Amino acid sequence: MAMSTLLLLAVATAALYVLRRVFPPSRSYPRARGVSLPAFLEFDRDPHKFLSYAYQSLGPLFWLDLILIRPVFALSLDANNLFYTSAEKDLSFNQATIDVTQHILTREQVFAARLNHLLLPGISGKSRLVSYGPGMIDWTWDFAEQWANESLSDPDGGLDLFQCISQLVTSICLGCFVGDAFAREHGIEVAALLRSFEVDISRPVLRILPSWFPHPLFRRIAATRARWNALIKSEIDARKADPEATRSRNDYLQYLVNEDKFQHEEEYAGIILGITFGALVNTTMTLSWALVHILKDSDLRKELLQEIDGSGLATSLEPHSTAEELAGGIAGIQRLPLLDSVLKEVMRYYSGLALVRYTMRPTMVDGHVIPKDTYVFVSPWLTNHSPALFDGPDTFRGDRFMGINYDRADTGKTASSKDGCKDGRLSDGFRPWGGGPHRCIGEKFALQALKTTLFLLLARYDPVAHGDARGVREAVPEWSKLVGTPECKGRVGWQLKRRSPS
Ligand code: HEM
Repeated sequence: MAMSTLLLLAVATAALYVLRRVFPPSRSYPRARGVSLPAFLEFDRDPHKFLSYAYQSLGPLFWLDLILIRPVFALSLDANNLFYTSAEKDLSFNQATIDVTQHILTREQVFAARLNHLLLPGISGKSRLVSYGPGMIDWTWDFAEQWANESLSDPDGGLDLFQCISQLVTSICLGCFVGDAFAREHGIEVAALLRSFEVDISRPVLRILPSWFPHPLFRRIAATRARWNALIKSEIDARKADPEATRSRNDYLQYLVNEDKFQHEEEYAGIILGITFGALVNTTMTLSWALVHILKDSDLRKELLQEIDGSGLATSLEPHSTAEELAGGIAGIQRLPLLDSVLKEVMRYYSGLALVRYTMRPTMVDGHVIPKDTYVFVSPWLTNHSPALFDGPDTFRGDRFMGINYDRADTGKTASSKDGCKDGRLSDGFRPWGGGPHRCIGEKFALQALKTTLFLLLARYDPVAHGDARGVREAVPEWSKLVGTPECKGRVGWQLKRRSPS
């Protein structure tokens, strides 16, 4: 068949496909009014303004009329809670994940990655966390020393804070998930691969065109996926070729290989990709924003230093420390109250804008029946900035969570203080790790990595804003992505100096 005929066929089929998406079978949406496309554009520019405006003028439940799709926003506290506890057969996490990641993960890979009995113990089991600890410390020393040397040799040049932290967190995660050797050899390439995936899957054109359409984006995604699969396959092949030598390695891939539950390398590649995706953005951005506030607020930094120096834990984290000393030191760091509060406040203040589910059948949300096959969003960001739940919600206060047990819903305990929250309702709204069946499996891993790296960077180094500190003062969240902790608009320059021994 001639090339032009093939092209014509492809265009005609694509046009039909688009028409079907534009004119879907009629459905009944909630009675609340829809928000038009121009108003939605405001969402991108100023999400707080947009969501507050929509909330005030339309109520807590409204839908966006985006022609091709009609996502529903459910912004009440009740909807927020229902979201986490609802069953797959109503509001489906898996289906939403399959849709969002359809071009990089197959349906089977998404389900393989949902095998919680392999996820939770493999990532956040007690002994596994202990075994991940030394790697987290080593990577932090390596990068911190490199940054300190660069700051010394080029005192007028500033390092890019978000880029530095992204490299550190990528190395820590790859080291723990696939091994340090893999992280050293392929870290830079993998960071670029993941970034390329992330940018590509958020492109709207992916929602319109069928995946066989000859668009360069699909070719690029396929090439990136093939490269990722090849990297993981060669790692698995090497391990299977010499099982005795590799059986005792402590990374997550080896844990999966030892469990021997999967037949194909693609399944391992899918799981590791899902985990790495889940881990990287939120952890990188949480650590970076914490450092932005420490650079910006000298009082906060002084108080943190008092806590860190006063704890005496730094001596257990020296390069020559024994495994027991390291484990004891890391465990102690997890209990430092101000460090804990600062990270919670970062997760509140910079929480993701939206979480998404997909209705598998008509589902009642906030008194409205949402039709089948609809994306439903809640906004952790809006909940976390609600004056009904937090005093002065738009102010960052590092000590806001000192003494507060925000986990009441999960532990059954009550909040021990009302400082920074209202009427003991904090636990209902503040869920930095989600809740219910899809609660984050990386919580303990992330907290160990975040607290250990932050502790080390402050205990042994002095992070300072670069130049006139404009980058730090003007750092604001970039809301181009709906899901996940926001990135930073603009560059934040910083330097790391070694602290003189006290
Ligand atoms: C500061 C860091 C992190 C934050 C704030 C965070 C937050 C969250 C939230 C809110 C959810 C629930 C999503 C929903 O209900 O739609 C979630 C799920 C998830 N997170 Fe995290 N996360 C972080 C770090 C990590 C890390 C380090 C890993 C892996 C090691 C990870 C792996 C996952 C996975 C696999 C899920 C889905 C669980 C499931 O399928 O049931 N996360 N995370």
